[in-house]
Amino acid sequence: MNSPAMQGLPLHAPAWVRNAKLVAWVADMAALCKPDAIHWCDGSQTEYDQLCQQLVDAGTFKRLNPAKRTNSYLACSDPSDVARVEDRTFICSEKKDEAGPTNNWMAPAEMRATLQPLFDGCMRGRTMYVVPFSMGPLGSPIAHIGVELSDSAYVAVNMKMMTRMGKAVYDVLGVDGEFVPCVHTVGAPLAQGEKDTTAWPCNPTTKYIVHYPETREIWSYGSGYGGNALLGKKCFALRIASNMGRAASQGPSGSLGWLAEHMLILGVTNPQGKKYHVAAAFPSACGKTNFAMLIPPQGFDGWKVTTIGDDIAWIKPGQDGRLYAINPEAGYFGVAPGTNTLTNPNCMASLNKDVIFTNVALTDDGDVWWEGMSEAPAHAIDWQGKDWTPAIAKETGAKAAHPNARFTVAATNNPALDSAWDDPAGVPIDAFIFGGRRSTTVPLVTEARNWNEGVYMAATMGSETTAAAFGQQGVVRRDPFAMLPFAGYNMSDYFQHWLDLGKKLAAAGATLPRIYTTNWFRKGEDGKFVWPGYGENMRVLKWMIDRIEGQAQGTEHVFGVSPAYEELNWTGLDFSAEQFKSVTSIDKAAWQQELKLHAELFEQLAYHLPKELSETKGRIEQRLAA
Ligand code: OXD
Ligand code: MN
Repeated sequence: MNSPAMQGLPLHAPAWVRNAKLVAWVADMAALCKPDAIHWCDGSQTEYDQLCQQLVDAGTFKRLNPAKRTNSYLACSDPSDVARVEDRTFICSEKKDEAGPTNNWMAPAEMRATLQPLFDGCMRGRTMYVVPFSMGPLGSPIAHIGVELSDSAYVAVNMKMMTRMGKAVYDVLGVDGEFVPCVHTVGAPLAQGEKDTTAWPCNPTTKYIVHYPETREIWSYGSGYGGNALLGKKCFALRIASNMGRAASQGPSGSLGWLAEHMLILGVTNPQGKKYHVAAAFPSACGKTNFAMLIPPQGFDGWKVTTIGDDIAWIKPGQDGRLYAINPEAGYFGVAPGTNTLTNPNCMASLNKDVIFTNVALTDDGDVWWEGMSEAPAHAIDWQGKDWTPAIAKETGAKAAHPNARFTVAATNNPALDSAWDDPAGVPIDAFIFGGRRSTTVPLVTEARNWNEGVYMAATMGSETTAAAFGQQGVVRRDPFAMLPFAGYNMSDYFQHWLDLGKKLAAAGATLPRIYTTNWFRKGEDGKFVWPGYGENMRVLKWMIDRIEGQAQGTEHVFGVSPAYEELNWTGLDFSAEQFKSVTSIDKAAWQQELKLHAELFEQLAYHLPKELSETKGRIEQRLAA
């Protein structure tokens, strides 16, 4: 392949880039994508400020009023580019069965042939940013390195917030270290002399988010938004990393491998100073950030919840047989609508300075606003640049902020940040929580009787869909482990990996984390949520800890163990036994129906479905029939 130098574009790799494979790959990609310039990101504040200024000059960013939001910006995307595009996301493993029935698949050779002409010249008229990043604390034995090439300065500045990005990564990479190559283009090349006519270039018709698990590559075309473009997040930290974790279990016998999960990680410290760590999986836009930043309510004096991560956990067995988790990310790309000083005060406090907002509304005093933040302003400019007033909203239903509007902010802005959030060793996990979003059927909280039953609960989790992904909203879809759009290989093999890991750890004498399933979203006959949620979820969290300590007996039922009313601390909350019953009761008929849906899921996942799961289902059915 021609090098860009041969085409007149010198690479100018800085002296601190010593990895020959990386330099050669950048040369190849530059020859293919044909950018006008190459910018090797060093991750410095000066660079960040310069790129932000460049984005302001291009009209992509608006600088917010510094008296309201210091050093913060607002970007508004093209209306066609507002969420992850799951139907355009592909796992291109050699064999279709390796990707499994829940992923879009195309043979790698066919996909490469499809992408080649699209990437040829795709960065014309633009700069290629070389963005080196570490997922996880630099040098952690659980961390891994990626390098993203992108023609979007918006991506480069977001990656600085979301990952450990910059020069130090090259030190870890050294001359021959491994990295995951990630190529991203907005797919909107410019002809010679042509200028952008839009502040958010993207390709309105063609989008591909492609993963090659065997060669561990990511290629993303056509979108500049979120998980489609910030490739360290869903593409690397979940889809590619889930493959890496499982592959590591297939080494010499006794290899355990590791887990890449769609989970927040929090620390919870009791008044005696004893600390526990919990990793929790909830589907996209179901309050993971709120739970990770929870402030204990009245009745919990002396309790403290601290955040290690809000979206993704990488989990590895330690020498002592316990599972240790790190947050591979360094920032939060959170959903703004609904966030306010009551639902998440820590989050609101994180958003005072150094924030990039995307697709929220701009107020007349140069601040931001979104639905559910506070009383509506009398006038604002909505995310599409149109005048917005409460009267217009009432008449037309127009939203000031897009429902999937986001903030990007460094973790270090979070007042509840855990002191171990950056610890290369990770934190030992005491409990896993899997939380669906169901208006009926599933109780507030259930503890699995054993690991396999917990895996069953996680595998059959269902959820009513949200705005984080493009598509129909409000229908129940099975979302195993909250990983449906993120598992980078066959879902049944993924279940098996969890089962095998538990089995091997138990055989080695380890105490496995407890597994819980929660549902904060049950509705009453009036159609309203019964459980108050948010900080009040602490009451459920405390019960889990009581269970771990052997201090809560619980009541056993067909699916596991749930609390008796008296076992939750109700100080400061008016919640009657009757209300409690309405969020914990088990309706036999609804569950018989539910199990039919589990059967449908298992039929879909029949290839390699672990027998442990069918057996667990059989036992539940027997109990239900008894
Ligand atoms: C996210 C998602 O952005 O899950 O975290 O979609
Ligand atoms: Mn997520």
